[in-house]
Amino acid sequence: MAFNFEYYTPTRIIFGRNTEDQVANLIKRYGGSRVLLHYGGQSAVRSGLIDRVKKSLDAAGLFHVELGGVVPNPRLSKVRTGVGLGNLNQIDFLLAVGGGSVIDSAKAIAYALAEPNEDVWDLYARKRQAKACLPVGVVLTIAAAGSEMSNSSVITNDETYTKRGYTNNLSRPKFAIMNPELTLTLPDYQTACGCVDIMMHTMERYFTNGGNMEITDNIAEGLMRTVIHNAKILVENPVDYDARAEIMWASSLSHNGLTGCGNDGGDFSSHALEHELSGMFGVAHGAGLAAIWGSWARYVYQNCLPRFKKFALNVMQVENIGSDEEIALKGIEAVENFYREIKMPTSLKELGIEPTDSQMVEMAKRCAVAVGGSRGSAKKLFEEDMLKIYQAANSRD
Ligand code: NZQ
Ligand code: ZN
Repeated sequence: MAFNFEYYTPTRIIFGRNTEDQVANLIKRYGGSRVLLHYGGQSAVRSGLIDRVKKSLDAAGLFHVELGGVVPNPRLSKVRTGVGLGNLNQIDFLLAVGGGSVIDSAKAIAYALAEPNEDVWDLYARKRQAKACLPVGVVLTIAAAGSEMSNSSVITNDETYTKRGYTNNLSRPKFAIMNPELTLTLPDYQTACGCVDIMMHTMERYFTNGGNMEITDNIAEGLMRTVIHNAKILVENPVDYDARAEIMWASSLSHNGLTGCGNDGGDFSSHALEHELSGMFGVAHGAGLAAIWGSWARYVYQNCLPRFKKFALNVMQVENIGSDEEIALKGIEAVENFYREIKMPTSLKELGIEPTDSQMVEMAKRCAVAVGGSRGSAKKLFEEDMLKIYQAANSRD
């Protein structure tokens, strides 16, 4: 049965080669006149992209100041620096050139500048809701988080190493420029992390016990098959433009709400579990998801057997032989084999971390707080379940 739903994706997508040339016109179109140009550590400077963007803004007569240095798992301290810079320069538009980390940092700055008398961390600490947000535009350089079309942002408070997400439609970017060529410089590891994250944004919506629609399932299954196919191509040939293009578009469609229309909002437990891993240990989000997913799946699959079976048959091409449980388990194994094939971890050890017992207890506690007590649709998880999943992922080789 299909549940009622609201589908809202206002982001204008400009896709393809040389599309970054349109950045200044797009900013003007959405009312920007004083721009904060936000970017990451090195890659966009090294490739010359930041210089090209600055030249476009200059040529269009757009005032701009810049703030680089956003790190993966972006930090609240950088957001606060951006807020200071924004206030000083009366910024009215945020331009994020980078990936999920840069976009999320820009979204947080945009919230803060729009409500100068409020503390932005209160949003992430679930203490209040945003009433306003400055417009954000994106030039995407990595296909992964889907933040270019999503209503979420995830920030790490670097005083407490607490990583928290905040979701509000106000922060959906006005536009996203997506030139697959800009992703050709990605290290293989980041490409693979991105592919896992994209898969997971649809898997989180797919493994549900509430509501479903045939059309949504078919879109979701097609998207996941496409990501698997093209992720493998990129292992062999990282500069394959068409594969980059498929993955880039999948990144946005996987997290703009499309693959969850008609269900109950999805599961999203693996994401909640992972955010504690990257908050505490600073691991890459996609790798963290790959490392935890199999342990989550084995813990919950019996509570969501029809979906695990359908997934095994339609996405992982498992043969329809044996009991439903056997087929479901073969599907889980097939996902892990795919992760191994693209050199992603399937345990915490392979992820490169070995949390102590007390660290796992702490992560489970924080995770439960972050989700307001419990999370999950495939199976509702509470703090004790979260701890068991961390322990299972930690005891695997
Ligand atoms: O900092 P630079 O030098 O740019 O290097 C980055 C970074 O080290 C590099 N990179 C990006 N584009 C590149 C490149 N290197 C070479 N060539 C390029 N073209 O890639 C590394 C990772 O970048 P990052 O932005 O951190 O990656 P991603 O897009 O995966 O974002 C991860 C963050 O997004 C959050 C994650 O939790 C994590 O904090 N998420 C945000 C979501 C959202 N807002 O909707 C949803 C996701 O589930 C996720 O939680
Ligand atoms: Zn994700």
